[in-house]
Amino acid sequence: MSTNAFVSELKSRLDIYDVVSEFVTLRKAGANWVGLCPFHSEKTPSFTVNPAKQIFHCFGCSTGGDLITFIMKHEGMTFREALDLLARRCGLEAPSTDHRAAEKKDQLLGLYEAAEKFYRSHLVRDRRVRSYLKERGLNEAMIEAFGLGSAPREWTALRDHLARLGHSDDLMLRAGLVAAGKNNRVYDLFRERALFPIYNLYGRTIALGGRALTANQQPKYLNSRETEIFSKSHTLYALDKAREAIKSAGFAIVTEGYLDTIACHQFGFSNTVATLGTAITEGHARLIKRFTSNSVLVFDGDSAGVRAARKAVRVLLPVGLVPRIVILPDNSDPDTFLRTRGRDEFRSLIQSAEDMVEFLLRQSLDKSKGQTGLALVGEALAILAEIPSPLMRGQAMKTLSERTGIQERFLMEELQRIQPKGGPSGLTDESQSSPKEDSRREPSEALLLASAFDTEQRVRSLLEVMRPEDFLDEKLRAIFVKLTEFLEPDHRWDASLFMRHLPEGDLRSTFTGLLANRSFDAEESQAIFDASLKSLRRRNTLASHQELIRRIGRLDREAMARFMEEQRRLKKSRPSGSG
Ligand code: UTP
Ligand code: MN
Repeated sequence: MSTNAFVSELKSRLDIYDVVSEFVTLRKAGANWVGLCPFHSEKTPSFTVNPAKQIFHCFGCSTGGDLITFIMKHEGMTFREALDLLARRCGLEAPSTDHRAAEKKDQLLGLYEAAEKFYRSHLVRDRRVRSYLKERGLNEAMIEAFGLGSAPREWTALRDHLARLGHSDDLMLRAGLVAAGKNNRVYDLFRERALFPIYNLYGRTIALGGRALTANQQPKYLNSRETEIFSKSHTLYALDKAREAIKSAGFAIVTEGYLDTIACHQFGFSNTVATLGTAITEGHARLIKRFTSNSVLVFDGDSAGVRAARKAVRVLLPVGLVPRIVILPDNSDPDTFLRTRGRDEFRSLIQSAEDMVEFLLRQSLDKSKGQTGLALVGEALAILAEIPSPLMRGQAMKTLSERTGIQERFLMEELQRIQPKGGPSGLTDESQSSPKEDSRREPSEALLLASAFDTEQRVRSLLEVMRPEDFLDEKLRAIFVKLTEFLEPDHRWDASLFMRHLPEGDLRSTFTGLLANRSFDAEESQAIFDASLKSLRRRNTLASHQELIRRIGRLDREAMARFMEEQRRLKKSRPSGSG
């Protein structure tokens, strides 16, 4: 069975309401169900489930999709994993397109699980590492919860153990748990180290980090390598343990170290995660974004910390994550700060974390040592320009204005100068509609599409009468173009398959928004479709007329004849009764 066919089969057996309502409390609102969005924190419900369309959409954070998307996002699963989970629910088996890749991943997961177990059980006997961890202030509960272990001093302890379990040297090499020495003998990567398992979002071990026990031992931290199941830039340490706390606290604390994170959890800040020895990436930001839009980044109190903070802001904003910044005093890190200054002081640091605009401005103004530093205002503006949400941008603009004493309207002008209009697709060709028309909201375009998606017959008549250029709204036009690619003459119309045909992100959420943002019945739908089609065609016909009249001044005789011909054609196609 093809994946598409399987998805349809699955959907015929499962109802999105049943699946979602296991995770979200829903109440009836017209044709839809609504509830508090599990993907961002909110007080009034904007999360909508439309049972007729079998889709969900949140009008607060624009997350939307079908029941498979819901499981993927909610459980942090891949498409395959979500399919498997849902398939098991109704006693089906998901078709696997790539057995080999899945098998490889399973092998690695099995291997890491075995290695983690081995190191954990070794810790029980390893007094040296136990006392190291005690010295570092970790309690039993944390050692247990974070699965800490220890690596023996022998050269092949893990290797021999894994071999006894039937794992090949080749797999161990691929996993980066052993290294090849002379005469192809392999030996353990981790020896005499405290071991920190690294878990993925749902608690599977995907890598290991080992800390040296003495200052002589180098490097201080050693990580197993990146593999098919582990990418540093897409993994956050402890996110599996912190995800629920992040949701309920409404923000994530992001630190730079394993021990910093464990210390935070031990002191009650269980919404804490850490990057894995790299600067924070867009991948990290998207991970956090699944659970909250707010984060407090805690950086060590040195110059590297300040540089890292400046960089982080630029990475997080475009993803829509609002960072606040804490730079710890006196070269401390969260771990040392908590142990020397205590929980309450740390809490107040977190609570008074500086807004990122404040932070950047203060940095800029400090750097300019009292001068007005207009160039640095420009720098702050360049960062503002990257904030995707207009609301957030407005707020930041206000702060910037207050801090600099420069009126908002001048800042706005400057912002527009550095951020040229037209957007990414930048239609500059004069023959296209003008930018003014592009930015005008066109409710009838949205209504037309929303009402068309109900029935195959309407989708087909839409494709017959409309052309991409008839849509002024860029996103709606893009959806229409995708629709022309999607619906072949012999295909049946299926809104949720079409949703999968749209690239994830803007287009998809515009689409699910169209489907969810309405509650008219079948009859109304048809009426709305007819009415918006008529009004759009009238608008576009009028626009073509105006365009022709504009050109008339430049026409020669021959062109005049063509113009007359055009005119006649347009008249014929003009909808009757349009005046
Ligand atoms: P730090 O050097 O700031 O150490 O590294 P730390 O977290 O304070 O660790 P302790 O308290 O000395 O034990 C921060 C993070 O950078 C990565 C690790 O993830 C570490 O937690 N790191 C550091 C490495 O990957 N390799 C290294 O050699 C050092
Ligand atoms: Mn430290």
